[in-house]
Amino acid sequence: MKASQDRIIIFDTTLRDGEQSPGASMDVHEKVLVAKQLEILGVDKIEAGFPVSSPGDFDAVQAVAHEVNKAIIVGLCRTRDDDIKTAWNAVKDAAMPGLHTFIATSDIHLKYKLRMSKDEVLKSVTESVGICHELSPSVEFSAEDATRSDWDFLVDVFSAAIQAGADTINVPDTVGYTNPQEFFNLISYLKKKVKGINDVTVSVHCHNDLGLATSNSISAVLAGARQIECTINGIGERAGNTSLEEAVMIFNVRKDLYNLYTGIDTTQIFPTSRLVSHITGIPVQPNKAIVGANAFAHEAGIHQDGYLKERSTYEIMTPEAVGIGKTHLVLGKHSGKHALNKRLESLGYHLSDKDLLKVFNRFKVISDKKKEIYDADIEAIVLEEIYRVPDKYELKHINVNSGTVVVPTATVQIVVDGETIKEAGFGNGPVDAVYKTIIKMTGFNAELKRFSVSSITGGTDAQGEVTVELMDQDMVSVGQGSDPDILVAAARALVNAMNRMEFMKAKKSVESPRL
Ligand code: KIV
Ligand code: ZN
Repeated sequence: MKASQDRIIIFDTTLRDGEQSPGASMDVHEKVLVAKQLEILGVDKIEAGFPVSSPGDFDAVQAVAHEVNKAIIVGLCRTRDDDIKTAWNAVKDAAMPGLHTFIATSDIHLKYKLRMSKDEVLKSVTESVGICHELSPSVEFSAEDATRSDWDFLVDVFSAAIQAGADTINVPDTVGYTNPQEFFNLISYLKKKVKGINDVTVSVHCHNDLGLATSNSISAVLAGARQIECTINGIGERAGNTSLEEAVMIFNVRKDLYNLYTGIDTTQIFPTSRLVSHITGIPVQPNKAIVGANAFAHEAGIHQDGYLKERSTYEIMTPEAVGIGKTHLVLGKHSGKHALNKRLESLGYHLSDKDLLKVFNRFKVISDKKKEIYDADIEAIVLEEIYRVPDKYELKHINVNSGTVVVPTATVQIVVDGETIKEAGFGNGPVDAVYKTIIKMTGFNAELKRFSVSSITGGTDAQGEVTVELMDQDMVSVGQGSDPDILVAAARALVNAMNRMEFMKAKKSVESPRL
């Protein structure tokens, strides 16, 4: 795929680099759900995973390849034969398959990580890109740690990759080290010196260690890059990657400045952000550009006054443009399945009959406790009931007794691998009682690193959303739960995090080395 001069190709790597965020591991089902939403969002390429890293990742990439038709499905591979073949086997059934091979080029990586000479790296680039080219209609080559590499060596490496058949050359700022000026100069240098560069797409892949990932990507575009690699909510290794929503909205809002466009349906940005946040368990910071809870809030009196007189005084884009609808008062206790389904469809969720029934049953339970159900409530139910890892632990019931004069006591019933167990226990407070009881009855062993509660909508009957983070040795898992009863939400969140941890342990036990 070669970009036209005014079109920016959006290469989404939420399912690969995004999945490298601590705790963000996704199973097959979850990756397919995110990939389908990315297709609706309109990304051009989906990097679905690193197939050689584990059988689970191979299966997930293959499942995405089978389910998505409108985007190129890319598998990542090092420049090794078995990596390339495994990646190809995972993506080959896609309507539009692609391979992305990479090797590091900086002196520091050559000396300490690869223990290879420059000549050996060059040879490996020619051979591996050649193999990819024989297999795949779409081939990208990346020079890992490009921004700390010798520029003339990069010229040789990229020239060799193009000569061997790469249609896209990617310049990663792997450790988030460069700045906009330097990156502009590097891309301009490559554009001048690399043989055949005008026949291929120049791509950039920036990390956010200094908070410059998006700025660096835009700067590279000004120097002639036409593909941006990015993730939803900017998730990714360490400080994350260029955030898709920021890059896309910069071109959208400042058409006057750039005169460039993407294929993204911007009204799908917010639903995609919510989905990814829920599936990975990584919350979006409130002041995050475009998708943060405060991104469209006007707090200062003087701002509110101006905004009410004329929106454009303090608003450079509308919330509707990125898919943040007004939170509607939608349904109540007497609403039926049909009405719920209609509302779900208008929010962009098209559920099977089986899934609709699950959501409807939960909706009925909540509408008994809460008079008015808003869009955000429904969304929380869908995300929790439909998009979650298969459950080893299933919470059945909790009962909590607490107050000023009693010792907080919890009674909990959980199904573990199909077998129901019950237990009661005490704690310093009601949440502590619930958590201690669940840990006691399951024998689950991990440290609780974070516990946070937020309210999904306003009012004292609002659903609470609880996020917990567990840590076991080097593994982190994040769980979320929601319910009008904050203790039920807390129990759901813990059980969700436990399930995610079990899933990650199972995945790790069969894993070969990662990036
Ligand atoms: O950051 C990086 O260099 C990468 C490569 C695999 C493109 O993720
Ligand atoms: Zn990366």
